[in-house]
Amino acid sequence: MEKGYMSIRSERKEEHLKLAQMFFNKQKYNSFDQLHLLRPALPETNVDPTILTTEMFNKSVSAPFFINAMTGGSPKSKIVNQALGKVAAKEKIALALGSASILAKEDDQLDSFYVARSKNPDGILIVNVNPETPVKAIHKIIQELNADALQIHLNTVQEIAMPEGDRDFHWLDNIKEICNQVNIPIIIKEVGFGLDQNTIHILKNEGIQYFDIAGSGGTNFAQIENARNKNDVSYLEDIGLPTVISALMAKKEQVNFIVSGGVRNPLDILKGLTLSGQYIGISNVFLQEFNQNGIDGLENLIASWKKQLAALIAIYGKKDLASLPSIPKYYDLPLKTQINQLIR
Ligand code: FNR
Repeated sequence: MEKGYMSIRSERKEEHLKLAQMFFNKQKYNSFDQLHLLRPALPETNVDPTILTTEMFNKSVSAPFFINAMTGGSPKSKIVNQALGKVAAKEKIALALGSASILAKEDDQLDSFYVARSKNPDGILIVNVNPETPVKAIHKIIQELNADALQIHLNTVQEIAMPEGDRDFHWLDNIKEICNQVNIPIIIKEVGFGLDQNTIHILKNEGIQYFDIAGSGGTNFAQIENARNKNDVSYLEDIGLPTVISALMAKKEQVNFIVSGGVRNPLDILKGLTLSGQYIGISNVFLQEFNQNGIDGLENLIASWKKQLAALIAIYGKKDLASLPSIPKYYDLPLKTQINQLIR
C-alpha cells in the first residue's frame, strides 16, 4: 500500500476521533442530573478504596468502571489504543477497543488494535464488532487479540446519519449465529442512543447475558456523523433514550448490564451503580483527558476517580459495591414522567 494512503474506513476512524474532540462538552446536562440519591447525615462508615475491587469476566479489576469502546483501524487510533492499553494495565481497569470489524476487510490494521493488548497482556480486553461481522472473522479477532469478552454494537441511528452507512438492519440471525459459535461472554451494546427494553428482552431470550445500554446524554454520534454529512440530519441528535431510562429498562429485564453514555464524573458512576449496573463504561471523557494531558493525565484522572468513588460510597453510608442499589433514589419530574410512561 502506498505511503499516506488511508482507506475510507480508516479515514472515518480518524474523523471520529477529531469530531469527538470538537463536540466534547464535559458539563453537558443529562439524565444523571435528574436522578438524586438520599444521603444519611450520620453514615457510620469510613473511606476504603479497597472495596472497589471486583471481578469482571473472571479477572480481578481495581474498580467497577472501565474505558469503553472507541477506536482502532488507523494511524491515530493506534497511538490512542497504545496509550489506553498502558493506562488500563497501570490502573488495572478493563478496556474495550473500538470496532474491529475493519479487520475482516483490512487485516493490515491489526497492529492498531494489538498495541492495546501488548501493553496490557493480562488485563481485561473487550473487543467490539458490528452485528454483520461474519463469525469466522470474529473468531480470528478474538484469538489475535486474546479477548476476554466481545461487544456487538447496535447503531442504527449512526448508520443512517452516515452518508456511507448501512441501510439494512436485519441483524438478528447473525447475532444468533455469533451467540451459538463464540465461547467468550457477549455484550450487546448501543453507541449512545440507548438500548430499549424490548430489544433487551428479545436478545435475552436468545441467550445474550450482558448488555451495555450506552444511552444518550454524552457522545452523540448523530452530531458527529452530521458534521460529515452533506444532508442535514441534526434532528437525529435528539432521538436517543436517556441513559438512566435505558438502565431502568435493563434492570426491569433482570439482565447483567453496563451503564454507559454521558458518564462525566464519580457521582455519575455511583448513580449508575445504584441503578444496578454491574460496571460503568466511560468513553469520551477519558479520551479527551488523554488528548489534553497525555498518559499521565489519564492515569491521574482514573486514580483520582477511584478515590472519589470510594469517598462517595462512604458519604452515602455504604461499605461495599453489592449494597449500592439499596441507596434511596428520587427523580426530577420530567424524568419521572418519562419513567412512568416507559417502564412497565
Ligand atoms: C465511540 N463509540 C463506539 N462504540 C462502539 O461500540 N464501537 C465503536 O467503534 C465506537 N467508536 C467510538 C469512537 C469514538 C471517538 C467515541 C468517542 C465513541 C461509542 C462509545 O463506546 C460510547 O457508547 C459512547 O461514546 C457514549 O459514551 P460517552 O462517550 O458518553 O462516555
